[in-house]
Amino acid sequence: MAYSTTIINFMITILISLILSSTISESYVHRSSSAPFKPNTLILPVMKDFKNNLFATTLHKRTPQIAVPLVLDLNGRILWLNCDDNYLSSTYRAPICHSVQCARAGAHSCHKCGSSPTPRPGCHNNTCSVIATNPITLKNSVSELALDVVTIRDFNGSSGSNASRRWATDPHFMFACAPSSLLQGPLQHGVRGIAGLGNTPVSLPVQLASRFGFRPEFALCLSPWGIEGTMLIGNIPPRMLPKIMFYTPLTVGAQGDYSIRIRSISINNKNVPFNTSLFSKTKGFGDTIISTTVYQTVMEHSIYKELTQFYVRELSRVPRAPAVPPYGLCFFIRAIWPTAIPDINLYFQNRNVRWRIRGYDSLFYVTREVACLRFVDGGTNVRAPITIGSHMLESTFVHFDLARSRFGKESSREASKGFLCRDLWT
Ligand SMILES: *[C@@H]1O[C@H](CO)[C@@H](O)[C@H](O)[C@H]1NC(C)=O
Ligand SMILES: *[C@@H]1O[C@H](CO)[C@@H](O)[C@H](O)[C@H]1NC(C)=O
Ligand SMILES: *[C@@H]1O[C@H](CO)[C@@H](O)[C@H](O)[C@H]1NC(C)=O
Ligand SMILES: *[C@@H]1O[C@H](CO)[C@@H](O)[C@H](O)[C@H]1NC(C)=O
Repeated sequence: MAYSTTIINFMITILISLILSSTISESYVHRSSSAPFKPNTLILPVMKDFKNNLFATTLHKRTPQIAVPLVLDLNGRILWLNCDDNYLSSTYRAPICHSVQCARAGAHSCHKCGSSPTPRPGCHNNTCSVIATNPITLKNSVSELALDVVTIRDFNGSSGSNASRRWATDPHFMFACAPSSLLQGPLQHGVRGIAGLGNTPVSLPVQLASRFGFRPEFALCLSPWGIEGTMLIGNIPPRMLPKIMFYTPLTVGAQGDYSIRIRSISINNKNVPFNTSLFSKTKGFGDTIISTTVYQTVMEHSIYKELTQFYVRELSRVPRAPAVPPYGLCFFIRAIWPTAIPDINLYFQNRNVRWRIRGYDSLFYVTREVACLRFVDGGTNVRAPITIGSHMLESTFVHFDLARSRFGKESSREASKGFLCRDLWT
């Protein structure tokens, strides 16, 4: 029951976006004849797909314009979409092999298409190839690098009836034109591809920053409820930031993926005494990945084991309940006051900077009686010692400041203190 209503909600949001897009296309056509508009900040809606716990945005693309729903992948290199499915656009271009655009996308090999005798989007000879990755199934696919028009709404700091009515146009937005097989997997019906937000020259935020000349930065507020969340791309005026933010250095991996460095973890304000000899393989907490395509936070087996053992000791008076996969540690929660659930803190390089997970926020309520710790044992073969899941990014303002290599988060999580987390879409 709950599932079908949430799916319906999601479909309604997509429908609304489609309706919106038809009203925009007029202003877009009108605007294209005047001087190009240079925005400071762009805004995109973010909807939650409750079935898969993924977050999707809608981009307005092509000529004639249509709304394209795409799942956000914080660590994705590029924006890719399914081109097999009737990609119709008079402004589609595929740069030729060894051109400047191909070099910028790191696409050094030439694309050949034998599958169809007539060229079509995604299928030309002598264009260039990029690898597109589905972050959920981890499948890769050779795709044609392509360019097309993208139109995104301007944000001038006002919402509601005072919201900016301008739209910014990138006539040559670069993306990967992938085969439909890459979309297979647990993606919401209607989703056409993945919007990569990684720190690469061709990701959505970095490409728009260089197109419009703003600082490479973006901010997210993911909404856990039926209201839409928000992504801002471009200059983020300080007055839009929540009053209290913490910042920690942001590291960028070889694939443009983001990580932060955790130094220690406390439960109930007591430092968890990890056996550091177990860390030789994982280099401590190493680089902790932040993800929008993994929902619950995943820990390498030995870290998970020590953390949960300590947690159990802190909650020794609360009876354990059988595990509810994927969660390994569950309790009969009736026996404890919500305020007595211990807080968990993640400490960064600077010990004064911590990511506080409130007790009630650290538990997933399976039933009214049983709740489980929201951490999942990832086994020994993990990409990173800790992957912070998107649940920890919900209802809070997070800021990826690529220009200053720092990650910022609103200190509290009591939703909607930050400007962005308010419902800007009504
Ligand atoms: C690409 O070239 C091959 C021959 O090398 C040809 O068979 C194929 O039809 C061409 N594809 C397109 C889309 O032009
Ligand atoms: C629009 O701006 C005016 C003047 O600043 C303000 O009084 C009004 O409340 C705003 N409306 C909305 C919907 O924010
Ligand atoms: C944003 O744009 C709208 C419509 O163009 C305007 O009414 C509003 O005052 C602007 N807000 C700011 C802060 O400039
Ligand atoms: C830490 O782990 C190593 C390897 O499993 C073990 O030999 C050692 O006794 C442990 N030390 C403590 C203090 O538990």
